[in-house]
Amino acid sequence: MNHLTHPHSPPNPALQPLQHALSQQLHDARLVLTHLPNSPIQLWLLDAAPLRRAFTDAEVQRIQNEPLYWCFCWASGQVMAQWLLEHPDRVRGKTLLDFGAGSGVVAIAAALAGAARVIACDIDPLARQACVANAAANGVTLEICDNFDTAPKADWIVAADVLYDRANLCWLDRFAQAADEVMVADSRVRDFQHPHYQRLGQAPATTWPDLEESAEFRHVSLYYGHAIRIAATDSH
Ligand SMILES: C[S@@+](CC[C@H](N)C(=O)[O-])C[C@H]1O[C@@H](n2cnc3c(N)ncnc32)[C@H](O)[C@@H]1O
Repeated sequence: MNHLTHPHSPPNPALQPLQHALSQQLHDARLVLTHLPNSPIQLWLLDAAPLRRAFTDAEVQRIQNEPLYWCFCWASGQVMAQWLLEHPDRVRGKTLLDFGAGSGVVAIAAALAGAARVIACDIDPLARQACVANAAANGVTLEICDNFDTAPKADWIVAADVLYDRANLCWLDRFAQAADEVMVADSRVRDFQHPHYQRLGQAPATTWPDLEESAEFRHVSLYYGHAIRIAATDSH
């Protein structure tokens, strides 16, 4: 069966490149519009069914070579989105940049919370397309950007599940230099130490569809960062 004409497949032509990329990796995988648990947000995510079967070596290789992060809603993204929806006063009327937006879940939450301008930034072109499709599914508009260095100036920078590579820890300084306020959510780095960030707490969440990650990755830490330039001025 052609996945694009499956009765439950996405009817929106804008989703076809996303569905195509997914089918290239797993022939039986499809995108389904998925309501996140305890959230008003819905996203085009991977249908969980193919995850229940064994993968061939070739499929494993393809997935590892080109991970399609955007077809999952990562545990950290869910916790950050929930925080934004519960604290709309913190971002209302502000400009917010979601670094490593993936599906766009955090950016969408910020828009729903009343941010004046939301920029979804991702180096992956398919993730940027997913952000557009998912924004439309939630009735919000996002600005899309492929490069943090050329992104518009933001009051807030938020980043969920981007520290999976330790090399990305250097971004913490960059975020705090670029915005007044920063929020980082991560389940991989449990308690990083940084002079401009403080850990606010931890919340349970499960990446969706469920990758059956070990229990240690089902607890998301939230970190709040202050602007580095303000601290430098205060010290004089
Ligand atoms: C694990 S996903 C998290 C997606 C989303 N924030 C969430 O929580 O569901 C990480 C995302 O970060 C993006 N990413 C990694 N390095 C990046 C960089 N230097 N600039 C922008 N995006 C980046 C990847 O392409 C991927 O979409």
